[in-house]
Amino acid sequence: MENISLNIQKTLGFISEASVHAYENDVINASKMLQNGTGKGRDFLGWLHLPSSITKEDIADIEKTAADLRSRCEVVVVAGIGGSYLGAKAIIDALSNSFSLLQKSESPVVLYAGNNISEDYLYELTSFLKTKQFGIINISKSGTTTETALTFRLLKTQLEKQVGKEEAKNRIVAITDAAKGALRKLSTQEGYKTYVIPDNVGGRFSVLTPVGLLPIAVAGFDIKALINGAVKMEEVCGLDTPFAENPAAVYAATRNELYKSGKKIEILVNYHPKLHYVSEWWKQLYGESEGKENKGIFPAAVDFTTDLHSMGQWIQDGERTIFETVISVKEPNTKVEIPSDEENLDGLNFLAGKRVDQVNKMAELGTQIAHVDGGVPNIKIELPLLNEYYIGQLIYFFEKGCGISGYLLGVNPFDQPGVEAYKKNMFALLEKPGFEAETKAIKARL
Ligand code: PA5
Repeated sequence: MENISLNIQKTLGFISEASVHAYENDVINASKMLQNGTGKGRDFLGWLHLPSSITKEDIADIEKTAADLRSRCEVVVVAGIGGSYLGAKAIIDALSNSFSLLQKSESPVVLYAGNNISEDYLYELTSFLKTKQFGIINISKSGTTTETALTFRLLKTQLEKQVGKEEAKNRIVAITDAAKGALRKLSTQEGYKTYVIPDNVGGRFSVLTPVGLLPIAVAGFDIKALINGAVKMEEVCGLDTPFAENPAAVYAATRNELYKSGKKIEILVNYHPKLHYVSEWWKQLYGESEGKENKGIFPAAVDFTTDLHSMGQWIQDGERTIFETVISVKEPNTKVEIPSDEENLDGLNFLAGKRVDQVNKMAELGTQIAHVDGGVPNIKIELPLLNEYYIGQLIYFFEKGCGISGYLLGVNPFDQPGVEAYKKNMFALLEKPGFEAETKAIKARL
């Protein structure tokens, strides 16, 4: 069976092949630091062998819980923020029919909350849920994240009112730390079904734990195939693979070399709207892992061809500090042929008989040529198909690439100290108990 593939040919007018290969020893060292746990953030390397260490029993238990939620609920709300929802949404969206929310389906509708503090959003969500049989998957590693905890308080109260406390317990699953945090305490007290986010797996690397797997199974997708894809990439991106054949190694080296040459922004590109959230997940993975110590490539994303009509001008002609990484899907899952039209008033008969994907592919190739001509190096990642297996490969490829790339850059790719700054100010402004000194200090600045 084919694997996802990486092609860096269209970066080579900007950097040399030799300069990428010069990273080989550094990449091997970085890979060994990951493998042996000798680098920065060594306590957060649980993701590295996660695919190959998930047991049949783990999968069966997740599938059983998913089946139970599916039998009770027409809507399941995934409450979580950052790494506690982006992976699930990325994969569910990538695999779903774009109009599934509007269609009758055997699977519950999966909605997302706990990722913002918008009063309108929560009002509209809770109003929508009033007439629905709904359940909640509440995900928070720390168990104390304000956005998620506040949302859960509202949803739990509503669910208990709608179906009673006993049935609500059957429809709430909590995914959190094994022992710490308010969510663990609450779950123990209420008797919810729980799953553990391992201590050594950070939020943005947690999609292949129950954090991602349970919502994906609830949405009706094959989590075994997803894991199998990730296992394959774990092998392909492993230490035994020579540098030039290891896509995670070459990706990490290429993007670091481009960064050194002045390309400070990486734009992840897709040509299918259902991949939008894969880019959102990737932005967190790379942004939170590398943006430290005044360093790091800025991860941006666009959906083409849509955004060629908004961001295309900037990409073609703006400041030359960008490179593109394109996720290309070789064969779509469906076929749409362009019909012939007798009158041909729109002048499109030259496309009659062709598939829509042929037009999309020529847009992709034409854009690649135009952007390379315009000074934008282009990395291409090709997926043979958009299915669970290849998405599993893509997820692990990006995770391994991120770990190696962070070490090449010289940062700790597994912490996120900068995320705390806004929380401290917010708590001070809200006069949270324990923040009295911060409250005083921040009020003096207003
Ligand atoms: O990558 C991370 O660690 C963060 O983005 C977290 O996933 C996010 O802040 C949510 O945290 P928690 O799961 O503790 O609620």
